[in-house]
Amino acid sequence: MKKRILSVLTVPLSMCAAMSAQGLKDAYKDYFKIGVAVNNRNVADPDQIKVVLREFNSITAENAMKPQPTEPKKGEFNWEDADKIADFCRANGIKMRGHTLMWHSQIGSWMYQDEKGNLLSKEEFYANMKHHIQAIVNRYKDVVYCWDVVNEAVADSPVYPGRPELRNSPMYQIAGEEFIYKAFEYAHEADPDALLFYNDYNDAEPAKSQRIYNLVKRMKDAGVPIDGIGMQAHYNVYGPTMKEVDDAIKLYSTVVDHIHLTELDIRINEDMGGGLRFNQGQATVSDWERTLQQDQYVQLFKVLRKHKDVIDCVTFWNVSDKDSWLGVRNYPLLFDENYKPKQAYNAVKNFDPKMDNAVILEDFKPSELNQPGQEYPMVNSQGYARFKVNAPKATSVIVSLGLGGSGGTVLHKAEDGSWMGTTDGPMDEGFHYYHLTIDGGVFNDPGTNNYYGSTRWESGIEIPAHDADFYAMKNVPHGNV
Ligand code: G3I
Repeated sequence: MKKRILSVLTVPLSMCAAMSAQGLKDAYKDYFKIGVAVNNRNVADPDQIKVVLREFNSITAENAMKPQPTEPKKGEFNWEDADKIADFCRANGIKMRGHTLMWHSQIGSWMYQDEKGNLLSKEEFYANMKHHIQAIVNRYKDVVYCWDVVNEAVADSPVYPGRPELRNSPMYQIAGEEFIYKAFEYAHEADPDALLFYNDYNDAEPAKSQRIYNLVKRMKDAGVPIDGIGMQAHYNVYGPTMKEVDDAIKLYSTVVDHIHLTELDIRINEDMGGGLRFNQGQATVSDWERTLQQDQYVQLFKVLRKHKDVIDCVTFWNVSDKDSWLGVRNYPLLFDENYKPKQAYNAVKNFDPKMDNAVILEDFKPSELNQPGQEYPMVNSQGYARFKVNAPKATSVIVSLGLGGSGGTVLHKAEDGSWMGTTDGPMDEGFHYYHLTIDGGVFNDPGTNNYYGSTRWESGIEIPAHDADFYAMKNVPHGNV
């Protein structure tokens, strides 16, 4: 292999030290790596390099290591873009997630069909796949610590009974699910030390997560060298629920020892997953949508910290909204289009470990300022507040109060169509004004009385003071107070 000149910008060590002082990777050093998918601009522009080196300790090439960009024609490799990113990582001591060795998208069709478009024989396809995989793995095994060996091979929902659980890709048509097993075997043969992952989107959707589990279980039972599952985590501000994420992680952890979130972004509309057809977003983002996104990130990272025993890397898909495959108008990441951290960044980074393990006492009682007969809002002896709002047609309900994502308390839809939520921490004692934001509209909580203060009528809640008894009006038959 001809000697490659290091054509990347290395940053003076003194600057590295200063920059590495306060990033996401440092805040999560006791939990898991924080990674990012980069394009070639991100590792060439000095300002973007500062963000990458300060915040992240795992790097994925967004496109450069995929089948088509690396081997557009059989036997003709193009290493230029991948080498630039790999050399940047080598020069800065950052290990990489390799993405991705086998995928039905961004792959040269020569891999699986002849010039006339006829599918190749299994033997020819396997020979092409083996040569491709081993060429890449051997080239980068000094800097890549794990590979997304196969990407998105499981069918999306709905899958009707009796239908295959796998995507009907050309590779599947040639060899059935065996091609997946072979891809892992070829990668393991080339680098026995690399952790090998199966990677997919809609990873927390219950039916699809079961199909992903089923595939990996079959692979493990067949002795295939698979080490982990990559949850792409292309989520949105409305879903998946944290219970779905928690359940998926628990399910996957019964079959693999390593779970990575590999492509995290949280867009501000109802689209989800890795598909290339998606809502192109909106021109402006409202405060309440920022709060929804912040809360989805905050609640997600709380679940991920709980599973730090099996989660060893969380990778954001792209550095900033400007780089995002979803475009700036989907507002999906923690850094805005000018590479400035959003409020959600601070909420994700400045978590309080003590709050992760806080026990909320279930001694909630209606607040004394509620309308007669109204159960909610409720308060408990620690000062937590719990809300319940009936809004079956709403897509979001946010209470202006509460530590929540530090922008309020986002309520979530219960089975009966009502929206419920509890403040993320205890509130200050005493009276608090508050209001609801429902799909962007501002309302008072019908469960409470209204109070006029600082130019507006608002709902009110009383967080009981621990010395309330001292100030309580009492009957003093023996005298006056
Ligand atoms: O490099 C060519 C360039 O030469 C050409 O001028 C230009 C115009 O067509 O296209 C460029 O290629 C584009 C490539 O990104 C590099 O920028 C492709 O058109 C474009 O389709 C491709 O999109 C990538 C997409 O995967 C392809 O499926 C996105 O950047 C990338 O973020 C996205 O990432 C995928 C993960 O790999 C797997 N999970 C889903 C995720 C989102 O789709």
